[in-house]
Amino acid sequence: MEKPAVTDHDIHPLLANRWSPRAFDSKLVAPEKLAQLFEAARWSASCFNDQPWVFIVATKDDTINYQKMLDCLVPFNVAWAQAAPVLILAIAQKHFKHNGKPNAWGEYDAGQATANLVCQATALGLFAHQMGGFDADKAIATFHIPDTAKPMAAIAIGYAGEVSNLPIDLQEKETTPRVRQPLSSFVFTGDWQQTADFV
Ligand SMILES: Cc1cc2nc3c(=O)[nH]c(=O)nc-3n(C[C@H](O)[C@H](O)[C@H](O)COP(=O)(O)O)c2cc1C
Repeated sequence: MEKPAVTDHDIHPLLANRWSPRAFDSKLVAPEKLAQLFEAARWSASCFNDQPWVFIVATKDDTINYQKMLDCLVPFNVAWAQAAPVLILAIAQKHFKHNGKPNAWGEYDAGQATANLVCQATALGLFAHQMGGFDADKAIATFHIPDTAKPMAAIAIGYAGEVSNLPIDLQEKETTPRVRQPLSSFVFTGDWQQTADFV
């Protein structure tokens, strides 16, 4: 299903067409396409070019790892994400590689790399749905993530599926219009809450 953003100003179709569906098809994602997703993340900008992101991937044909990843999600997310052929955990490393000092931008950079990945997914005709609803402690224990790294989000990836296959309450959410705050509420100039003229 498509749910393009209804924008006040023209934006790139990739950005307008990205959205977070919960209805996924069971069709697997080809390994080359998976590699393209992470290549897109790889070329993201980062503070000191530290590239502090790590991704743990589980594809549905790898049943043991897929189940391990699925078990880290909260039940609300399991209900729909279990149909997605790919689950990913996005992780931020806490320290700079060049000097071992805390990296205050690690989470920002991991998010930015994930945004690249999600845009690349859209370009490939895939959909991505990010999730904060996962048990970070369980993920740390399950995947032996060191305490120098912080799991940030889980991501379900796959092709669009039938809305009618979702539980009924989720079907409703799937078709609800996408909404955003106006530009005037977050684009300031000169001072906090002083809206820029051009918006
Ligand atoms: C960091 C993050 C955490 C999110 N957590 C969840 C989640 O746990 N479950 C869920 O169904 N959607 C989750 N979402 C999806 C958001 O609800 C969704 O991006 C938002 O409503 C905007 O919709 P859109 O992505 O379709 O534009 C999350 C998104 C992000 C970026």
